[in-house]
Amino acid sequence: MAVKRPVVIGIAGGSCSGKTSVTRAIYDVFRDHSVVVIEQDFYYKDQSHLTFEERLGTNYDHPLAFDNDLLIEHIKKLLVRQPIEKPVYDYVQHTRAQEVIHVEPVDVIILEGILVLEDADLRDLMDIKLFVDTDSDLRIIRRIMRDIKERGRTTDSVIEQYLSAVRPMHNLFIEPTKRYADIIIPEGGDNEVAIDLMVTKIKTILETDNVL
Ligand code: ADP
Ligand code: C5P
Repeated sequence: MAVKRPVVIGIAGGSCSGKTSVTRAIYDVFRDHSVVVIEQDFYYKDQSHLTFEERLGTNYDHPLAFDNDLLIEHIKKLLVRQPIEKPVYDYVQHTRAQEVIHVEPVDVIILEGILVLEDADLRDLMDIKLFVDTDSDLRIIRRIMRDIKERGRTTDSVIEQYLSAVRPMHNLFIEPTKRYADIIIPEGGDNEVAIDLMVTKIKTILETDNVL
């Protein structure tokens, strides 16, 4: 029997734009099918050889912070229906966790992260490219609340990081990737029309004869 090629959806957008919310909305529709979420964040370069203080100095919004070679290798494996060992990231320790997650091949691969549309080789692996577009004032408010609650940061450190790295890198590397998107989704996970359109498109691709 012919083996179908999985569908790859790339979901980019600024920090706290709502990528995870959009991802979850799509994931929930396909959870009975077979779907996996690959978070680009989990592919931040391993920093276990650095001290905690040194890790605080990393620019986490620059493309070079990510191990895209490993990410591309994993997507290519999933595309030919091979399993992967997905890394896990620890935002509080700022490095990869010890454990990995075993991921079996699936029909739908959702690749989500601030810079997934920045790398041409990654873009080439995607069937659908989304950019979640949310105003920066909303994103910084959400980020202050989230990073204090979930990522072990203080208000001062979130604001300092936003001004020194997040904002400039967003303008330099993230915002320009909007031009590569097939669909730009304003306001993320609350945009039900955009989510419905995406789901319909994914179903259409799954029903066509895209065999390996
Ligand atoms: P991203 O993955 O782009 O960083 P998330 O979807 O994780 O964004 O959202 C970041 C934070 O903002 C989370 O704490 C989430 O609860 C909050 N958030 C996301 N969308 C909304 C919304 N429409 N209204 C209010 N808060 C939101
Ligand atoms: O979920 P979100 O898209 O916001 O995650 C990306 C953000 O995580 C980046 O803007 C980066 O600044 C931040 N990050 C961080 N500390 C780390 C790793 C990532 O603040 N150790």
